[in-house]
Amino acid sequence: MRARRSCLAVPGSNPRFLEKAQGIAADEVFLDLEDSVAPGAKEEARRNVVGALREGDWTGRTVVVRVNDLTTQWTYRDVIDVVEGAGDRLDCLMLPKVQDAAHVVWLDTLLGQIERANGLPEGRIGIEAQIENARGLVNADDIAASSPRLETLVFGPADFMASIGMRTLVVGRQPPGYDEGDAYHYILMRILMAARAHDLQAIDGPYLQIRDLDGFRAVARRAAALGFDGKWVLHPTQVETANEVFSPSQEDYDHAELILDAYEYYTTVEKRGAVMLGDEMIDEASRKMALVVAAKGRAAGLRRTGVFTP
Ligand code: GLV
Ligand code: MG
Repeated sequence: MRARRSCLAVPGSNPRFLEKAQGIAADEVFLDLEDSVAPGAKEEARRNVVGALREGDWTGRTVVVRVNDLTTQWTYRDVIDVVEGAGDRLDCLMLPKVQDAAHVVWLDTLLGQIERANGLPEGRIGIEAQIENARGLVNADDIAASSPRLETLVFGPADFMASIGMRTLVVGRQPPGYDEGDAYHYILMRILMAARAHDLQAIDGPYLQIRDLDGFRAVARRAAALGFDGKWVLHPTQVETANEVFSPSQEDYDHAELILDAYEYYTTVEKRGAVMLGDEMIDEASRKMALVVAAKGRAAGLRRTGVFTP
């Protein structure tokens, strides 16, 4: 699994941002041809993006281009120009406003043809599918199962709120009048379930109030707590917070590694399946939970600070 704690959106029509993004420590960078690019600038943005992929230094990042959605006239040309021009520099394409599995199958098929025609390794370029309307959410399971190229489902809150008629203009904030619970809980959980049922990552979308870092942190923590793997960032100031929120704390990481070592020791050396670790009873299910936290910690570059002694 690629790291995606922070996924930086970069408008393809802005050469200065395309240059600047190369110095930002986001796990993923996605160069956008869709909603951050005005209709009249789409073609120039394609050229900018291919140039930035070819000439830029994106080392260490997950590199993605977001194409336009399938209801537009731009998508096929986005895919062909970007993959023919710089397919070898690309990890994934992101497809926005996916409404059913056929959208992803279309992209999978087109990618296969371009790869074959250009001598690129077949199936290497992955797909990220944005779920951003009611139809997409209702079809989330089928979408998640639609292609072996799929790596993530991505929540698109702004388009989604518009699609269902949610009465707020502030992405991530609770709609006024909804005073109990979390208006996003069902949507986030639905996407997470579909993703996990098909071994995909689940990524939360943008928080648009870019000067409100506390608000960003609160919304990010909500998604991280449920199990989401990362979140979009629209500004360099959000990157560090996202990387921190979507990594386990040092304490949780140490605890997870301790559980794994202890469980290994007790089940193999002592051949016992449920044992006490301090005041805590651990068993096979504890090992599974610990594996999740340990994997996220290792991926985030954490180093354990304690050792297990029986
Ligand atoms: C992202 O694309 C969104 O619509 O929130
Ligand atoms: Mg959107």
